Amino acid sequence: MAGPAPAAELLAAAWKLLPLAAARYSGFRVGAVIEDASGGVHPGVNVESVSYGLSLCAERAALAGAIARGANSFRRIAVVSERLKPVFPCGACRQLLLEYAPDLTLLVEGPEGRPEEIPLRDLLPRPFIRLEAGP
Ligand code: THU
Repeated sequence: MAGPAPAAELLAAAWKLLPLAAARYSGFRVGAVIEDASGGVHPGVNVESVSYGLSLCAERAALAGAIARGANSFRRIAVVSERLKPVFPCGACRQLLLEYAPDLTLLVEGPEGRPEEIPLRDLLPRPFIRLEAGP
């Protein structure tokens, strides 16, 4: 099991993805790399549709790919865009990420490019994550 990569390394991997983003309508390219509990990393970019509302964010693309590869526990997700620093996941991504990765740490770049780590939980207080009251 690999130890955690430095934050800068995960962010650099997210930067590398930006040319692959399919942001043909907004021009706002986003790259995301989600790291699983074994240190495996899974890429995601945003994929836009001419029916704008169907567009898929990089974070959800990364999560779906990771799950399809058999990952089921996650440590961190690095998210970058060229135009906005830091870039934070939208509400829909916060919801889905929290459901599958409740202990996820979000890794973003501050305005000067310095890594910032934020627990995902802090970005979605009092979440809807189950259908019944639990113990
Ligand atoms: N987008 C992401 O992929 N992730 C974010 O965190 C913010 C927004 C995408 C969705 C859309 O393709 C474009 O950025 C502009 O909203």
